[in-house]
Amino acid sequence: MTNEIYMENIMDHYKNPRNFGSLESPTVKHIEYNPLCGDKIEMSLLIENGKIKDIKFKGNGCSISQASTSMLLEMSNGKSIDEIKNLTKEDVFEMLSINLSPVRMKCALLGLDTLKNAILIHEKYGEKNE
Ligand code: FES
Repeated sequence: MTNEIYMENIMDHYKNPRNFGSLESPTVKHIEYNPLCGDKIEMSLLIENGKIKDIKFKGNGCSISQASTSMLLEMSNGKSIDEIKNLTKEDVFEMLSINLSPVRMKCALLGLDTLKNAILIHEKYGEKNE
């Protein structure tokens, strides 16, 4: 794919985010902000038998933060907690496949930070954390 096609894919996720919304009875719910701009991602996860059974997000922010979260959730649904813990920022950059400035890297990683911290909170405090 060319850079242009990757950009089109990002804009498609930004305009039509997948897994958008919030779960009614999540196992864990977590919000993260980008300290540089205040943009936010709220994620709710349903975890069963060590796997993500369902996951949704809401948020506001730039196209990169919202699209990367949409793409991340699409590939995270159904994965085990261990698989999520092994995701790296390089996985996110590879998924986006466009050149990012350091500021835009923070945007791109907001979803991954939210997801990983939601898992940490779940493991530390158990079920029904908000
Ligand atoms: Fe705020 Fe990108 S400018 S997350």
